[in-house]
Amino acid sequence: MSWAEKYRPKTLDEVVGNREAKEELRRWIEDYISGRDRRPVILAGPPGCGKTTMARALARDYNFDVIELNASDTRSAEVIRSIVGSAAGSKSVFGRRILVLLDEVDGISGSMDKGGLREILNIIKVAKNPIIMTANDIYKPSLKPLRERCKVINLKPIPTNTILSVLKKIARKEGLEVDEETLKLIAKHAEGDLRAAINDLESLALGGSLSPEDAKKLDNRNVEKSIFDAIRMILKTTNYNVALLALWDLKEDPETLEEWLAENIPREYKKMEEVATAYDYLSKADLFLGRANRRQNYSLWRYASALMSAGVALAKKEKYRGFTPYVRPKVFTKLLQSKAQREILKKILSKISSKTHVSTKRAREDLVYLSTILERDPYLGAQLVKFFEFTEDEVEYLTDRNTAKKIFKILKEKEKKKVEKKKEVKEDKVKKKKEEKKESKGKQITLEAFLQ
Ligand SMILES: Nc1ncnc2c1ncn2[C@@H]1O[C@H](COP(=O)(O)OP(=O)(O)OP(=O)(O)O)[C@@H](O)[C@H]1O
Ligand SMILES: [Mg+2]
Repeated sequence: MSWAEKYRPKTLDEVVGNREAKEELRRWIEDYISGRDRRPVILAGPPGCGKTTMARALARDYNFDVIELNASDTRSAEVIRSIVGSAAGSKSVFGRRILVLLDEVDGISGSMDKGGLREILNIIKVAKNPIIMTANDIYKPSLKPLRERCKVINLKPIPTNTILSVLKKIARKEGLEVDEETLKLIAKHAEGDLRAAINDLESLALGGSLSPEDAKKLDNRNVEKSIFDAIRMILKTTNYNVALLALWDLKEDPETLEEWLAENIPREYKKMEEVATAYDYLSKADLFLGRANRRQNYSLWRYASALMSAGVALAKKEKYRGFTPYVRPKVFTKLLQSKAQREILKKILSKISSKTHVSTKRAREDLVYLSTILERDPYLGAQLVKFFEFTEDEVEYLTDRNTAKKIFKILKEKEKKKVEKKKEVKEDKVKKKKEEKKESKGKQITLEAFLQ
């Protein structure tokens, strides 16, 4: 477990900073319970200041069970609807009341997600449970309708001194030998993001170097980790903990990370058996993800994350040094393309599913692997293309123009060789027949001669 997770406060009292906001939140839940204010609440504030933590702590303090959902996950709406719409849904199996925590609602503000936002607004109207939403930026114009229907509580970045006191406590509990100056540098560098500070402390401790010089080297990264950073950490490390660390403050859902890893594993790993092992872990992670979503058992996400990060990381025997240019998953970007492109995708999926007897949904999951094989091994790729009866357009969609050309050249050459061989065989046969005829004629002659 990461230190940020290990030292996550369980109760509101333990949450540091934002004293007024904490009070406001308490007042809200009391008003909710008494029926005075049934609006959902939005906790708005920068990353790592304790939004999710406060929501969970409040639930615990007031004896609610929490259902935690990510707002930008399209499945969330379905789950919430099945829970909050009915009176039965207001109690958990343990007979306790349910509080819905809808994390990161600002993630749905894109124009593509108008439907998602409408869905949430509808749900709010009928909900019989208290709902807490969290967001980094609630003042985007597109979120106005949501803002108007909720009580907004603003959280501020955690002051450097407060961060410092938390770091000191953790350092003491972990038995670290670290001087005040180092901790101060870490605290300052985090710019109000307590999670980032704790993560920095942990990664410096993991690296065995806790000096002011090391703390100064903490690069001026954007506190929100990009998916590039996450896959770089996973693909470069051979350390279990570091791999897990990669997912901690990542703002992407597990499915997205999965696609990114699938796309980039063969770009980093050079040994075929490592690529195979890594894919094996990835597909196991995928299994857990599917199960988590089907059973709405989100604790399974933990296993999926471990398989996806540490499993993939440890699939390699040793580190690959040097810079690897990672790329965006092809399948991922292509889904956003034109209608014509989507038609091609549809054809590809239906070909895969009819040849291999799987659902088109499952076929879509296989696309990443297929693209990778086509690119890495055009000869094997050619066999697959023949098997699935893909057209050149379709192969180009899955890879790129050059690869498609290469594969179809291979296929053409194969075809040519086949035709030549057939011709040869045919010529051979004709030749043989002629010879046989000759021979039999010869025989006839001898026979005739014999008879004469
Ligand atoms: N106010 C706080 N008091 C104590 N610990 C905190 C506080 N804020 C953050 N932390 C630490 O940072 C970790 C992450 O905090 P949390 O998940 O609540 O951040 P968040 O505000 O929800 O961030 P995000 O916007 O990225 O979702 C916690 O597990 C905890 O260790
Ligand atoms: Mg959060």
